[in-house]
Amino acid sequence: MTALTVGAKGPQRVAVLGAGIIGLACAWRLARAGHRVTVLDPSARTGATYAAAGMIAPASEAAFGQDALLAAGLASARLWPTFAADLTHDTGRPIELTPCATMLVALDADDDNALTRHVRHLHRRGCTAERLTSRAARRLEAGLTPRLAGAVLLHETAVDARKVASALEVALVEHGGTVLAVSGEPVVHEGTATGVRSLGERWATTSGVIDADVVVVAAGWRSPQMLSALDHAVPIRPLKGQILRLRSSPGALGHTVRGTVRGREVYVVPRPDGEVVVGATSEDVGEDLRVTAGAVHDLLHDAIELLPELAEATLVESTARLRPATSDNLPVVGPTCVDGLVLASGHGRDGILLAPLTAELVSAHIDGRPPPSGAETLAAQRLCTPKELT
Ligand code: GLY
Repeated sequence: MTALTVGAKGPQRVAVLGAGIIGLACAWRLARAGHRVTVLDPSARTGATYAAAGMIAPASEAAFGQDALLAAGLASARLWPTFAADLTHDTGRPIELTPCATMLVALDADDDNALTRHVRHLHRRGCTAERLTSRAARRLEAGLTPRLAGAVLLHETAVDARKVASALEVALVEHGGTVLAVSGEPVVHEGTATGVRSLGERWATTSGVIDADVVVVAAGWRSPQMLSALDHAVPIRPLKGQILRLRSSPGALGHTVRGTVRGREVYVVPRPDGEVVVGATSEDVGEDLRVTAGAVHDLLHDAIELLPELAEATLVESTARLRPATSDNLPVVGPTCVDGLVLASGHGRDGILLAPLTAELVSAHIDGRPPPSGAETLAAQRLCTPKELT
């Protein structure tokens, strides 16, 4: 188990707004070190975390030019095994990283050339990426379409994000933390955060305020709403994702398979129990939580194009959620322009991947340690613009 201690300031009272994987990971990390942590969320674990496929996939998620995201993703992927082992230790619930390496597949010569460029790009950045012929790829993953033009194998993993979030809540409580089913907003007095105020009916104190030395805003795409009292704007916007869950036989698929079909990207993530996650759309359409017929059609069509036998799987669930996206595709994590107010949001498509790094970064800030390597570019202050300038 990883040993943790509080910094020179001693145990702090920390209020965390948001109980998705980011808020809960920060809260657990802080409570384990000895801080007194209260998390507020009217509906814990039901936002973007609920939808997430759970890929720990830094190399396949970072596009060309997203080197800072790749570095942060690689740093966080290295933290995941210890994070999962500590969580298993604290809860007795096994949190397993499924070793379902990612297979990036190409259906035609153009896509195959793009894969060659992607491999070169990854090799230059020190990542392992193995080029496969279509025959070799089909030997490893028998269900792949015979139309395959080529493939790449990446040593990535995946977790069940719902299980992780639920274990985080248990582990937090185990370490003396509290989760309140209310929404709240930071209380700021003379440029310093002094606590959180309830926005709901059920509340723990008669004054409606919980005093805190540090307030962490980790409320996903809703984070800007919680910063409305501040004189700084934080440009986080909702990015809609629609995603499906199918049921197939356990072991029918051994790899996460990702490809592009008719210009649309699709991924298929298998779990050991036979669940298969098919995702996901990325739609800049504001606060729209509808599951649309077109998205379900396209996701199924594209997944079956890559893996024809998926046509026999059972369609179990379709979900739409909003990811918190930023203009530079990097999260905003760390101190803001207000003393004691820390932001941990904007994780876009990478909330699950980046949860351990984010928790480490937030706790390093609160305990006065240097930030972990790979996290230098995530500083929240880069996107905090005085409102009069927006
Ligand atoms: N991490 C993949 C997605 O958000 O769709």
